[in-house]
Amino acid sequence: MTPLGRRLAAEISEHGPISVDRYMAECVAAYYAGRDPFGRDGDFTTAPEISQMFGEIIGLWTADLWDRAGRPQRVNLVELGPGRGTLMADLLRAARALPAFAEAIRVHFVETSPTLRAAQAERVPGATWHDDLGAVPRGVPLFVVANEFFDALPVRQEVRVDGEWRERQVGLVGDTLTFMPAGDAIRETSPARADYAATLAARIAADGGAALVVDYGYEGPAEGDSLQALAAHAAAAPLAAPGEHDLTAHVDFAALAEAARGAGTRVSPLALQGPFLLALGIAARAERLSHGLDPEARHAIAGAMRRLTLPQAMGSLFKVLVFTHKDWPEPAGFGA
Ligand SMILES: C[S@@+](CC[C@H](N)C(=O)[O-])C[C@H]1O[C@@H](n2cnc3c(N)ncnc32)[C@H](O)[C@@H]1O
Repeated sequence: MTPLGRRLAAEISEHGPISVDRYMAECVAAYYAGRDPFGRDGDFTTAPEISQMFGEIIGLWTADLWDRAGRPQRVNLVELGPGRGTLMADLLRAARALPAFAEAIRVHFVETSPTLRAAQAERVPGATWHDDLGAVPRGVPLFVVANEFFDALPVRQEVRVDGEWRERQVGLVGDTLTFMPAGDAIRETSPARADYAATLAARIAADGGAALVVDYGYEGPAEGDSLQALAAHAAAAPLAAPGEHDLTAHVDFAALAEAARGAGTRVSPLALQGPFLLALGIAARAERLSHGLDPEARHAIAGAMRRLTLPQAMGSLFKVLVFTHKDWPEPAGFGA
């Protein structure tokens, strides 16, 4: 068993089973604390690690909104769970197309992992780090970017036993971690995600700005168990190696939207990542990047664009939701 598995097993044998959301939170914190899991040699790859175009397009999206909002003199550009810092580095490079915007930005990273903070500092040396959003300075508009952040926040699960919904927990059978009780259906909610979205939206309602959330998930409600573990790009059992595998669950975008609306922001329709990136010009960017390159490099750029946009790749599973201050202009990328 892993060190976290041993610690949880000891706690469970003394005090009884723990909830699925507690289990997930412990696993995610331990997992990220000591590793950089991205890329071919890691456990998974995210959109900014596939291509620089992802961060660049988000950079131009942000600059455009800032411009149309009347060019506020100072903005906090906040990224939640910035991974290696790749998205922000690409975003900032693109933002320099509008020098006044680049001047107005102060970069804040909300990141709990010491290992990833070090990776982020290499790519974005001028950033300021925080353990949570509450520590980001108040009083100026903020742009918040969260790519594959909400899927790492914990979900609660309930299981139906004899027609009644009961909290699903992690207990011990012998010395093996086991989900309990057994039932005939499972449903998920995530108070942690709804709280986070509400806090984020309340900040935007108070200070101005917008939040761009990109993640994989569904427009709820949906029944079922979406808790999943990934190790070396393959699915694993969520209880197999606590803290050693990446643990996530699909995002219920309807629940995030409801929380954000409740906290006083305007919420965009839910867009699919593929159409969103295409509407913002990723094809033109790919074309431009390919200029003068050899066939192999051009092929790689075209392949990355397809992976980010095609429905059978990341284009449909990944979705985009934006919360905006009520007095701010409509963000680009959502059709008319
Ligand atoms: C799947 S990675 C996404 C990385 C990056 N956004 C990307 O697209 O490559 C999740 C990130 O969220 C961070 N994280 C997870 N839970 C967190 C929490 N509760 N507070 C702050 N950061 C967290 C992880 O350390 C990691 O940087």
